[in-house]
Amino acid sequence: MSSRKILVTSALPYANGPIHLGHLVEYIQTDIWVRFQKQCGHTCHYVCADDAHGTAIMLKAQEEKIEPEQLIEQVAKDHIADFNDFSVAFDHYHSTHSDENRELSAQIYKQLRDKDLIATRTITQLFDPEKNMFLPDRFIKGECPRCGAADQHGDNCEVCSATYSPSDLKNPVSAVSGATPVEKSSLHYFFKLPEFTDMLKEWTHAGHLQPEMANKIDEWLTTGLEEWDISRDAPYFGFEIPDAPGKYFYVWLDAPIGYMASFQALCDREGLDFDEYWKSASDTELYHFIGKDIINFHALFWPAMLSGAGYKTPNGVFAHGFLTIDGHKMSKSRGTFITARQYLDHLKSEHLRYYFAARLNNGVDDLDMSFDDFTQRINSDLVGKVVNIASRCSGFIKKRGDNTLSENCCEPELFRSFVNAQFEIAGSYETREYAKAMRKIMELADQANQYIDEKKPWVIAKDSERNQELIEICSMGINLFRILMAYLRPVLPETAIATEQFLNIDAQSWPTDTKPLVDHVINTFNPLMMRVNKDDIDAMLGIEKEIKQEEAPKAEVISQPSTQPEKTIVTPEIQQDEPLAEIIDYKDFTKIDLRVVKIVKAEQVKGTKKLLKLTLDLGGETRQVFAGIKTAYAPEDLEGSLTVMVANLKPRKMRFGVSEGMVLAAGPGGSDIFLLEPDEGAKPGMRIQ
Ligand code: MSP
Ligand code: ZN
Repeated sequence: MSSRKILVTSALPYANGPIHLGHLVEYIQTDIWVRFQKQCGHTCHYVCADDAHGTAIMLKAQEEKIEPEQLIEQVAKDHIADFNDFSVAFDHYHSTHSDENRELSAQIYKQLRDKDLIATRTITQLFDPEKNMFLPDRFIKGECPRCGAADQHGDNCEVCSATYSPSDLKNPVSAVSGATPVEKSSLHYFFKLPEFTDMLKEWTHAGHLQPEMANKIDEWLTTGLEEWDISRDAPYFGFEIPDAPGKYFYVWLDAPIGYMASFQALCDREGLDFDEYWKSASDTELYHFIGKDIINFHALFWPAMLSGAGYKTPNGVFAHGFLTIDGHKMSKSRGTFITARQYLDHLKSEHLRYYFAARLNNGVDDLDMSFDDFTQRINSDLVGKVVNIASRCSGFIKKRGDNTLSENCCEPELFRSFVNAQFEIAGSYETREYAKAMRKIMELADQANQYIDEKKPWVIAKDSERNQELIEICSMGINLFRILMAYLRPVLPETAIATEQFLNIDAQSWPTDTKPLVDHVINTFNPLMMRVNKDDIDAMLGIEKEIKQEEAPKAEVISQPSTQPEKTIVTPEIQQDEPLAEIIDYKDFTKIDLRVVKIVKAEQVKGTKKLLKLTLDLGGETRQVFAGIKTAYAPEDLEGSLTVMVANLKPRKMRFGVSEGMVLAAGPGGSDIFLLEPDEGAKPGMRIQ
């Protein structure tokens, strides 16, 4: 196989927030691809950087009363630690706020300017007179010009979906200061993108993009390209435009140049040839992995800029979809905005790597994650199938074979079929169809387990005459396991290393020509991977915290601590930047059966600080409900009074008995909990409407 020379990038994360599970889809996807290329013996450089410029970062630093430089330095440290701990192995990680990037950005700009590809003209924008700054669209709020909805951002209405220009908003306010913005004009610099229409029409259909992306871009090309505004006025955290004091490059101009800057820094460190990877005539390969939200920047502006400035255009731009959790966008109020660190505090990085691999293909569809599916795939595939092979076989080899594999391979055909699967699996990695690769690997793992099941080493082990046969079978199992771990190496780099230590072998290259290990001494087996357990997931999702709150005399109002606490047992803490709860349809609301009930009996629940057991009369029917209201109500005061319950809640088994619904109450907790109390006229069983 002739060796390729490849340069790979992932999109540069913004330096104003933590890495989260959504980001990790991309970095894990890219890292797997890079590791696969390296394992195949290709030269592959993987670079990335923090995207450190722009208004959002400037404002965030102001908010924290630090300089932007301090902010981006701290964030970079956190990002790098997160990537390390997820085994995302960049060859270099840089910052767009760097000398390399300043120079390259200036140089590319000058090349474009000298080719008459930069235009200037005066435009009018909204300006915050208190902050003395122009306002990017997302920092302006107002009423929708079409439907009048309040509090709509910049350029589109979340209520009626109208799109408009921010200056059309009614009663606009600056989200930065609250001041009423005024219109102000200033000189802007534009990149003449329309001049690249023909070039882009050709480039986008020359096999560099996924078909879905090429189609999306066709739409833009058909509508007609516009000149791209690449300048911003001071104050702005970024690079000043060389011949235009007070004007700064828009963050999206120098961000992709950050790919080059990071590679430049790698070249300086390792003596590589920058031009070999960026000059037009080169036969090296350049690939960008990105999310589908930034396709326009990478498949229109970027190739146009590169070609305008005399650099080569990317060989491929690979977009992926967005991570959703349980069918929804990640959200802070749902507790599903999970940061990399939050995950790592409770779960294993390789479990996420495998899960994403098992779910990723080369399209742009969103990837929906459910933690049940996650648990199941790790426990049944990795632990139950793959690692199981080694644990089933290694004990006999240790006890009965002195940790030495047999002198021969007893099933050469089976071994060969495992090695031959390399072509199919390599093909799937190469085309980023990881789910397909993982399926094939698990099929092989099933075959290996079947082989062991058929040979029943545990039966043979009872007959000391058949020791050689026993060791042959178990050695065969270990040899098959070894091939599987070679295939999984891009996904599970740590487990691969632990496996190599166990097997006493060198780092496994792609098994193009692997021979079985015979008469080979291995090391004693230690469990290579643990099962995922639900408690850790709950702890990560903060569910443990909520249960604790239930035990403590705080805001717990409702009656249901249980085996499924994620179903809202506790009023979540109200976060200032979040709406109180998700908006639901009227239809959803009508599903809730609210009834007037009479509290016939109220009793203490032993061993709890807050629970009362209530016997409720629904007008004939009786229900038992546990409610966390003891800190506010004495049982005897409740008996005989009316309240309101949710009558169609699925019954829940609790430590003390079954809870068959819940009563409604409000308040911060302690003695301040208030049960809903209908008027005298209400009758038990009446439906609330
Ligand atoms: N700074 C820009 C990229 C500049 S590249 C020259 C940016 N940063 S980002 O932090 O918002 O996103 C970084 C990458 O993570 C992007 O490719 C983005 O699509 C991806 N993702 C961010 N959230 C994501 C999900 N929820 N799911 C999958 N990918 C996500 O964009
Ligand atoms: Zn509207």
